[in-house]
Amino acid sequence: MIDVHPRPIRVAVVGVGNVGATFAYALLLSGLATEIVLLDVNRARAEGEAMDLNHTVPFTHPTRIWAGDYTDCAGAAVTVIAAGAAQKPGETRLDLVKKNAAIFRQIVPEVACHNPDGILLIATNPVDVLTYTAWKLSGLPAQRVIGSGTILDTARFRYLLSQHFGVDPRSVHAHIIGEHGDSEVPVWSLANIAGMGLSRFCAQHGCGFDRAAMDDIFYQTRDAAYHIIERKGATYYAVAAGLMRIVEAILRDQSTVLSVSSLIEDYYGISGVCLSLPTVVDRGGVERVLRLELSPEEIEGLRQSAQVLKATLAQLRLEG
Ligand SMILES: NC(=O)c1ccc[n+]([C@@H]2O[C@H](COP(=O)([O-])OP(=O)(O)OC[C@H]3O[C@@H](n4cnc5c(N)ncnc54)[C@H](O)[C@@H]3O)[C@@H](O)[C@H]2O)c1
Repeated sequence: MIDVHPRPIRVAVVGVGNVGATFAYALLLSGLATEIVLLDVNRARAEGEAMDLNHTVPFTHPTRIWAGDYTDCAGAAVTVIAAGAAQKPGETRLDLVKKNAAIFRQIVPEVACHNPDGILLIATNPVDVLTYTAWKLSGLPAQRVIGSGTILDTARFRYLLSQHFGVDPRSVHAHIIGEHGDSEVPVWSLANIAGMGLSRFCAQHGCGFDRAAMDDIFYQTRDAAYHIIERKGATYYAVAAGLMRIVEAILRDQSTVLSVSSLIEDYYGISGVCLSLPTVVDRGGVERVLRLELSPEEIEGLRQSAQVLKATLAQLRLEG
């Protein structure tokens, strides 16, 4: 029998600046949610975005969109947090930490109080530190607190590799792990096209494996945000698409492997920090973090990345 009153699928977005509003727009176009609630400390901004998005509905999918408050987070399957100060030219993501952690102290307890059963998806930078902060402040189980992490860096990496090797980026399987930021690590040892390692792919296609070109691709990946911010002041389309991909995996219970940030325990000796690794994401959030067979250099890089993040977390004194 057809259910004429299916349960609404609500997604809440806290912080509807560049990233939050672009994500809400992408979500509306996708038709995945039936309700989108927008929250921002700048209430007029949330109202304006809700009006603009509502005028998009006749071209898209029946969807209820409104500017709400924290009580409206109740029942949301996912609450995306993109609130906070953005990275300024020359500023590292870690510079932002104290400013945005203070904002999270206002937001996260409110969301968790009104929506103890939902999933928190963090986009605000520094995303790994704030994912850990959100986990601590929310009291939610760790599998329901996810950061967008290196989903964006991984997309940038795959795109650049695809340009170099002349194949669709979706056919390039490669991950960036660790911090979403300067200490991130490319997993060269497992990067492949059709199951072939990159140097083997080159050997078969007579393209010659160029180590310097690979290094340059990684530097372009790692530093992409700086280059885009220099030119247009902010980045938002690709991260919004990455957030959409995570939300789709959750709402459709897809068990998709995505490079996202979550609490890591006992991984090559790393524990008690949020960072990105290929992770199975489903209706419950983090279903499992995949154990990769990394090279010794990659293990060392991952450990250093964890150290960078832990040093920042220590400055926040979250336990106190
Ligand atoms: N994770 C990623 O890959 C990624 C990529 C790009 C940007 N970002 C980060 O996303 C964040 C947002 O970037 P943006 O360009 O959208 O910034 P923005 O300035 O355009 O938007 C931020 C919004 O947050 C709101 N806000 C601030 N304090 C708030 C509070 N206490 N409660 C509710 N809303 C509040 C502001 O009013 C503003 O509308 C930044 O931290 C940025 O660095 C992350």
